[in-house]
Amino acid sequence: ITGAFSNKSYADISVLQVIESTNTELKNTDRVRANGDTVLAEIQTAGRGRHGRQWLAPVGGSLTFSMYWRFNDGYQGMAGLSLLVGVAICRALRDCGVEEARLKWPNDVYLYGKKLAGVLIEVEGQIGAPADCIIGIGLNVMVPAHEYDVGQPHTDLSQVLGPDVDRNEVAARIIEQLWTLLPDFTQRGFEPYIEEWQHLDWFADRTVVVKTGDKRISGINRGIDASGALLLETADGITRFHGGEVSLRAN
Ligand code: BTN
Repeated sequence: ITGAFSNKSYADISVLQVIESTNTELKNTDRVRANGDTVLAEIQTAGRGRHGRQWLAPVGGSLTFSMYWRFNDGYQGMAGLSLLVGVAICRALRDCGVEEARLKWPNDVYLYGKKLAGVLIEVEGQIGAPADCIIGIGLNVMVPAHEYDVGQPHTDLSQVLGPDVDRNEVAARIIEQLWTLLPDFTQRGFEPYIEEWQHLDWFADRTVVVKTGDKRISGINRGIDASGALLLETADGITRFHGGEVSLRAN
C-alpha cells in the first residue's frame, strides 16, 4: 500500500521494537512529519489509553500504532475525527473478513459486545492555528484471557479469524482505510459518514448511561450529529455530549 500526500511524496511506515508509546514517538520526533506517517511498535513500555489509563497489550498478540495527520483548519476541521477512525477500522476489518465489528461512541471498536480496539487521539496546536493530530490505535489480535484484566470485557480478532489471524494484513488494511478516508474527511468533514457510523453503533437506540465528571445521565442513545456529538434523549429532550472526558456504558 502506498500513500502520497502533502509535503513529501510518500508517507512513511516505521516498525519499531520496544518504545514508550507510538503516540509519544510521533509527537517527539525531530523528523519532518508528513500526513499519513505511521509508527507501529511490537512493545510499548508506557502505552496510554483514554481517561489517563494505561494501555496494556500482549507481546505479539496486538497491534499498537499511530498515524500523524495535520488539519490546516485547526480544531474546527477535526470535528468527528475520532468517530471517523472507528469507521475506518470497521471497514478495514470487513476487508479482512470480519463483518461483526461495531462501534461504541466515541471510538471504541466492539466485537459481540466486548472491546476489541481503542483509539487515543492527541492534538498539538493553538486555537486558530493548524492542528497536528496523532491518531493512536490499539487492537487486540490474540490476547491470553487469563493474563489481562483491564477492568472491562475485552475480546480479540482470533475469536473470529482463528489462531492464524494475519496481523500484518489487519495493520495494512487499517492504514489503507485511514489513508483513503482522512483526505476525504479533511475536505468534506464528518457529515458524509454519519449514516455509516450510526449503522455500526452497537448501542443504537438503547438505554445508556453517560458519565461526565461526577454526573451520570441515563437516556436513550439517538445517534450522533455532524460534529461527532452523541445525542442522548432524556425526559428533557435531546442533549448533546462531546467526546473528551465523557464515557458511555450500557444501562
Ligand atoms: C482507549 O483507551 O481505548 C484508547 C487506547 C489507545 C491505545 C493506543 S496503542 C497505540 C497508541 N499508543 C499509545 O500509547 N496509545 C495508543
